Parts: sequence; C-alpha cells; structure tokens
Amino acid sequence: MSPLTTHLRVPGPTPLPDRVREAGSWQMVNHRGPEFKALLERVTQGLKRAFRTENDLVILTASGTGGLEAAVVNHLSPGDPVLSTSIGAFGDRFGAIATRYGADVTKVEVEWGRAADPADVEAALGRMIEAGRAPRAVLLTHNETSTGVTNPIQALAETARRAAPDALLIVDGISGLGAVPFEADAWGLDVVVTGSQKSWMVPPGLAMVSVSGRAWQAAERATMPRFYFDLASHQKAMVKGETPWTPAVGVCFALDVALELLEAEGYERIFARHAAVGAATRAGIKALGFELFADPPVASNTVTAARVPPDMDWAAFNRALRGRGLVLAGGQGKLTGQIFRVGHLGAVSVNEILAALEILEETAIEFGRPQERGRALVAAVSAADSAATSDKENTVEATAPVGSAA
Ligand SMILES: Cc1ncc(COP(=O)(O)O)c(C=O)c1O
Repeated sequence: MSPLTTHLRVPGPTPLPDRVREAGSWQMVNHRGPEFKALLERVTQGLKRAFRTENDLVILTASGTGGLEAAVVNHLSPGDPVLSTSIGAFGDRFGAIATRYGADVTKVEVEWGRAADPADVEAALGRMIEAGRAPRAVLLTHNETSTGVTNPIQALAETARRAAPDALLIVDGISGLGAVPFEADAWGLDVVVTGSQKSWMVPPGLAMVSVSGRAWQAAERATMPRFYFDLASHQKAMVKGETPWTPAVGVCFALDVALELLEAEGYERIFARHAAVGAATRAGIKALGFELFADPPVASNTVTAARVPPDMDWAAFNRALRGRGLVLAGGQGKLTGQIFRVGHLGAVSVNEILAALEILEETAIEFGRPQERGRALVAAVSAADSAATSDKENTVEATAPVGSAA
C-alpha cells in the first residue's frame, strides 16, 4: 500500500494538505536573513490570532513535550507548590515534568474518560492554601488525547483564578487548539502550549507557547534550570525576527502556508467542521457496536476513543485495518490494549471519516462481527448533519478543509 493512499487517522501527526507538503520541501533560507524574519513575524501573528491572545508567543523547535517542559522550567522554582490536574496520560506527563524539576506537585486525579470538575480543583486549591502551600501554578490539559476528552478549560480557569489568584494558569493546548474554540486571553490563561503536528496540519517539529505578562514576571524569579528552552532568550531573539538557535526552517515554511489555509477557511468554519467530524466518528463507531470511552458531554471533537471488546484480538484486527490502509492509534499508559483511538483533527473532512468507517465496517464483518452494511455510514452522516444544523453552510459536502486533497 502506498503511503499516499493510507488513511492516517491517528491524533497527530495529521495528514498534510498538498501545499503544506510542498512548502516543507522548499530550498533553505538564511534563518538570520530578511525572508525568515518576515516569515517569523507572519506566523507569530497568525498563531496569536488562533490562540486569541495579545500575549507574547514564541516558537520552539521541539515537539509538544518540549513546549510543556519550557512552560514548567521557565515559571517555577524547585519546591514550588503546583496543582496538576490530570485526566489522562498527557496530564500525568505534564505533572511528571514538574515533579522531575523539583516542584512540589499535588495531583487532582480524575477517572480516565471524564473531564476535570471545577469543584474538585477548587477544593484541592483550598486545601493547598490552608496547608500553607499556596500554588504557584495550576497545570491543565485542554484536550486529553489519550482518552478523547475535552476539559471545560474556561470554567476550570475561572475557578482556579478565583480560588488561587496568584497561581499561573498553564495549559497544554496541544491537541485541541486550532480545532475547537479556544480563548487564551478571555479565559485568563497565562501560558498555553501547542504543537505543529496536530490541528495545524504541519509536520512535527515546532512547539508554540504563549506567555502572559504575569508569566514573564514569574519567569524572572523562577530558578529551575533552563538553556535551550529559556523563553526569555527566545523572546529577545523574536523581537529581532530571529530564534536564538537554528529553527526547523522547513517546518516553519509549512506552518506559514498552513496558517494561510486555516485563515482562508476561517476558524468558525474549522470549529464547525471538527464538530461535524467528531459527531460522525462517534456515531459511526457506536453503530459498529463499539463502546465509546469518553463521557459523552465532554467527548473530544479531535480524537475519539473506543473500548476494544473483550472478545476481540485487537492486534489481529488492527493488522487487518492496516492492510486496508486505515491507521489508527492504540491506547496509552494504563489503557494500552484496552482502547483504540481515531484522530480527526486538522485537514479532515466528513467524507474521510466515512471512508475510515467503511474500512472499520468491512473489517468487523471479516472478523465475524455481524453488521448491517452501511449502518455506520448512515449514522455518521446523520450525526454530522445534526452537528451542522447550527451552521447551515456546514453540510457534509461543505466540510472538506481548504487545501485538502479530499
Ligand atoms: C495533549 C497532548 N499533550 C502532549 C503531547 C505530547 O506532544 P509530543 O508528542 O509532540 O511531544 C501530546 C501528543 O500527542 C498531546 O496530545
């Protein structure tokens, strides 16, 4: 099977529109020259519009985890009390980074598959303050890719700000930003991290981090060690239209083109498209007889997790899916072998989800799981249409992203 005909339905890296792929192969420029300076200015402004922030924004050559590490080491000192709200494997990783650098981390543990409850965050912050351990930061995950759950970040941020006004709000926005509504400034978020290989339709290689004025003040006091990820060095260079170290120039070219495509489509339409593909995926998978993993009201519009039925040999089923060109993701951490995940973020249309469901259906039939042919597709189309009723233009036909080959 040619890699070009593969249905890549993992939650990142996501498929690249043709123009983005071409941009990634352009000839190099001097990263300290005028072309790169203009590009850096353009992508920074484009990202700030997408983050909905007036804060500074720096672009790091790193994967998303590098961005999370930067968010921790620039704003905290060893021994600082931190509240880490984890709803899955990536929330655990965020807390683990803070612990590794010596923060005094208190965890709010949430059952995987559910979102964090603002009341639990409020109670945990209250207990920390009562114990004389006023938190310096609250770590939150916007969209937990390991479970397919989107947290109510606005409500969590409001609660945290009220209960612990001095704590920085640091958000892992890696797999939701650019696909679902997000308001960094209106929600009072101090540090927000995302990664190029997710909704941005760009290869892996860049982490983008927004930093509020409060966060810069904290950075001046913070003593965790940092060099490559020293955000102040990055910001100083950004002001001159440069990065402090050699950036992933090709990925920056790709990001520039991708942001142009995203803005041409418009973020409202992009959010509606993700609502439609999310609804279609959930409805189709359910119609195939799989149990969805996420609590329905907080199910993510960028990734869907479903339980592997106890009588299914997942490895064999997954091999058969791959043989038909459908690439899905398995479970992570304690969910390894228990769930599978379908990514539907970035350059994805409802029609592409229907194609993936068709392969799932065929394979399920081959594996002796009786299906009424076409039922999943009917359910998916109907769910996509209902999701789109608030946006008349967003019919199934109109949900192909700008620049997509589909
Ligand atoms: C929510 C979330 N956080 C963090 C990461 C880690 O990012 P990376 O793999 O780019 O380091 C991911 C990647 O899937 C993610 O989805």
